[in-house]
Amino acid sequence: MFEKIFQSLDVTSLLIIAIFFLFLEYRPPWWYRNNDCKKGVKLIPGPLALPGLGTTWIFFFGGFSFNRLHLYYENMYKRYGPVMKEEYWCNIPVINLFEKREIVKVLKAGGKYPLRPPVEAVAHYRRSRPDRYASIGLVNEQGEAWYDLRSTLTPALTSPKTITSFLPEAQQIADDWCNLLKLSRDKNGRVSNLNYIADRLGLELTCALVLGRRMGFLLPGAETETGEKLAEAVRQHFLGTRDTYFGFPFWKLFPTPAYKTLIKSEASIYELALELINSANESTKESAVFQSVIQAEIDEREKIAAIIDFISAGIHTMKNSLLFLLHLIGQDLQIQKKIIEDSTKSYSKACVTETFRLLPTANALGRILEEEMELGGYRLSAGTVVVCHFGIACRDERNFPDASKFKPERWLDDDKVQTATNSLFLLTPFGAGRRICPGKRFIEHILPLLLESTVNSFEIQAEEELELQFEFLVTPKGQMPMVFKDRV
Ligand code: HEM
Repeated sequence: MFEKIFQSLDVTSLLIIAIFFLFLEYRPPWWYRNNDCKKGVKLIPGPLALPGLGTTWIFFFGGFSFNRLHLYYENMYKRYGPVMKEEYWCNIPVINLFEKREIVKVLKAGGKYPLRPPVEAVAHYRRSRPDRYASIGLVNEQGEAWYDLRSTLTPALTSPKTITSFLPEAQQIADDWCNLLKLSRDKNGRVSNLNYIADRLGLELTCALVLGRRMGFLLPGAETETGEKLAEAVRQHFLGTRDTYFGFPFWKLFPTPAYKTLIKSEASIYELALELINSANESTKESAVFQSVIQAEIDEREKIAAIIDFISAGIHTMKNSLLFLLHLIGQDLQIQKKIIEDSTKSYSKACVTETFRLLPTANALGRILEEEMELGGYRLSAGTVVVCHFGIACRDERNFPDASKFKPERWLDDDKVQTATNSLFLLTPFGAGRRICPGKRFIEHILPLLLESTVNSFEIQAEEELELQFEFLVTPKGQMPMVFKDRV
C-alpha cells in the first residue's frame, strides 16, 4: 500500500515540477544561444544561482527577509560592487545598478514608451476579471496601450492649473491636520499614533485631489469605516505586491496566501472606490482630475481602474514622505526656525528635496532595456531587466558631500546649480522620463505647504530612532511617536 502511495507521490511530484518548469517557461542556461550579451550577463557578480530557484533561496536560507529588502540591497552593493546580478525564479536575470554612471545612463535612455517591469500578479488578476477591467491599467500597461492611457488620463493631474486651484483646499486640509495633531497629544505633547494619523491625511489629500471632495477623514473622531478600510486595503495591496513580486510565482498555478492578499485588497479598493465614485456630489463634479477621467473617451472600466490606481499610488507614498520629512526636521530646531523665517518658501522646498535624497519611499526604479547597452563594462541585451538603486547612490559621498547628513542648504547655497545639475537622472524619487510619476507636481507643492503649516504651529521633536521596513515602498516601522509643542 505504502509503495503505491510513494509511487503515486512520485508521479505527482514529477508532474508538479514538470508543470512548474513548463508553465513558467524555465529553460536551463544551455538552452540559450551563447551570444555576447548573454555572456555579459553571466559574468556579472552576484550570489550563487541555483537551477530554477535562481538567487531567491537567499530569502529563505540566507538570513534576509522581504521586510528588510532595502538592507539586503545595501549589503549586495558592499559585497558585489556597482553592478550585481540576481536571478529570480526560473533563472530570469535581474541586474542591479548602484552607482551614478550606470543609473543615469539607463534613465536617460528611456524612449517614447519606457518599459517598467509590470507587477505580474496584478496584471494576471485584472486579466482574469474582464467584468471589471478593460486593461491591466496605467501603472502596469506597456507600449502604445500605456501611452494611450497616459495621454488620456493624466493631463489634468499634471497640469499647473489644477494644482494652483487646489492650493486653497490643500491649506484647509493642512489646518485640519494641525488641529488633529493638537487633539491627539498627551499631556507632554506626544502624539503616539502619528503613523495612523498621517494615514488619514494621505487619504484626505488624495481623495480631495482625485475625487474632488472632502471626505472628513481628519475631523476629530471621524475614524470612518471607509477611510480605515481603504488605508488598510492599500497597505495590504503593497504587501501582496511585494510578496508576489519577489517570492516564488506559485500564484500562477494556484492562489497562494500572498496572491489572495493581493486580490482581496484589489477587490476591496475597487469596491470602496466605486462607492466613492457613485456617491459623487456637486463639488466632485467640479474637480478637474475627476472630470477629466470621467469624461475621457475610453471604456467605462478604464475610468474606475484609473481612479483606483491614482488613489493607491498616492496615499502611502505621500504619507511615508511626510513622516520622513517630519522625522528629519524634528531633529533640528534650527532648521525649523529657518523654515519659519524664510518668506520665500525656498527653505521648506529644500527640506523636501533633501528628504527625498536621504529617505525616498520609492528607493529604486525598474526598467526593461529597450536597446542593447553597455553597463559597468558588461554588455546587456535589449529586454534585460535592470533596477536602478538611486536611493543608495544618493547616499554616496562621491555624489553628495556629507551625504549622510540632512543638509537642505546644499540645494540653496552657492553651489546649488552644480548640485542640481549633478543630481539630474540620479535623484529620481518620482521616476524619470515619460513614465515619471504624474503626481510629482502635486506632491512638490503639497509637502512644503504641509511642512510650513506644521512647523508654524508646533515645535517638533523626533525623540525615537527611525526604523524602516520594506513594504514594496520603504516605510516607517511602527507608529513613529513624536512630540508637537505649541509655538508661542
Ligand atoms: C510622495 C509621493 C509619491 C511618490 C514618491 C511617487 C513615486 C512614483 C514613482 C517612483 C513612480 C514610477 C515612475 C517611473 O517608473 O519612472 C510613480 C508612478 C506613478 N505614480 Fe506616483 N508617487 C507619489 C505620489 C503619487 C500621487 C499623489 C499619484 C496620483 C494621484 C501618483 C500616481 C502615479 C501613477 C499613476 C504612476 C504610474 C505612471 C506610469 O506608469 O505612467 N503618484 N510614482
